[in-house]
Amino acid sequence: MTITATAGKACVIGWPVSHSRSPFIHRYWLDRYKIDGAYERKAIAPHELEKFFKHFLQAGYVGCNVTVPHKEAVFSLVLIEDEVTRRIRAVNTVYVEDGRLVGLNTDGYGFMANLRSVVPTWVPTGAQVLIMGAGGAARSIVAALLDAGVGRVLLANRTLSRASAVAGHFGARVEAIVWPDMALHLPRTDLLVNTTSLGMSGQPPLELALDMLPVHCPVADIVYVPVETDLLKRARIAGHPTVDGLGMLLHQAVPGFERWFGVRPEVTAELRRLVEADIVGKRG
Ligand code: ATR
Repeated sequence: MTITATAGKACVIGWPVSHSRSPFIHRYWLDRYKIDGAYERKAIAPHELEKFFKHFLQAGYVGCNVTVPHKEAVFSLVLIEDEVTRRIRAVNTVYVEDGRLVGLNTDGYGFMANLRSVVPTWVPTGAQVLIMGAGGAARSIVAALLDAGVGRVLLANRTLSRASAVAGHFGARVEAIVWPDMALHLPRTDLLVNTTSLGMSGQPPLELALDMLPVHCPVADIVYVPVETDLLKRARIAGHPTVDGLGMLLHQAVPGFERWFGVRPEVTAELRRLVEADIVGKRG
């Protein structure tokens, strides 16, 4: 790879943006597929967002990733062409099509692709899923699971009104429950997902006894620092298939790279090892 970037440049925007692992992932792929492109990290304050997109094409960008706190704001600044992103109302990937900026949400895709790769035997049709959390990440995962054909999604959130709003938005297959009622539903759960920040390094752990959860039930976490959260560790020891947030992070990056640089990149064990080592190194 050279620095001429004739294949175009992409970036990740956020405020702050220093924590983002996206540059690591996309630069690995640029290198691996010998694409003469670039991927930058850009700290953009909320008041600079509109201006940034106004000058996007002139600045030579072919696309970008969007991270906290801009995902909802970007939704209303670019074109939305697919139904899934429209339902999530948040954008994590922007690409250029016929000179126009198009927004996409690939978080739900990343979650499902990772789940399918780690637990290929898991059958979504008719499954009952228990999701903890009701933020943007939860909305993406609910949309993807409904598309995949799950029967029922229970949403447990510390603030019930947020879960009720998401349930109202997605319709009859999604139901909000109060946080303490989670335990009651475990025996009939076919997939358990944490989308809250509980368990993230520096945050309290997610305290939920897993004894009543059927052993076939996969346990997924979107937290990826640490890669194995306390929840995933307890699930693994109890014999559940576990699905970590690092896998989702890698898979959600695939559609963006493909649109920007024309190659569908592969999520390999080597890439996973390198990003994991980077995470461990930065924590220590
Ligand atoms: P994201 O877009 O990544 O989903 P978010 O919108 O800030 O981020 O959502 C964070 C989720 O973690 C929310 O469901 C939040 O619960 P509230 O809606 O009640 O705020 C949840 N969360 C964060 N800290 C929590 C805690 N200490 N206990 C329980 N839930 C927590």
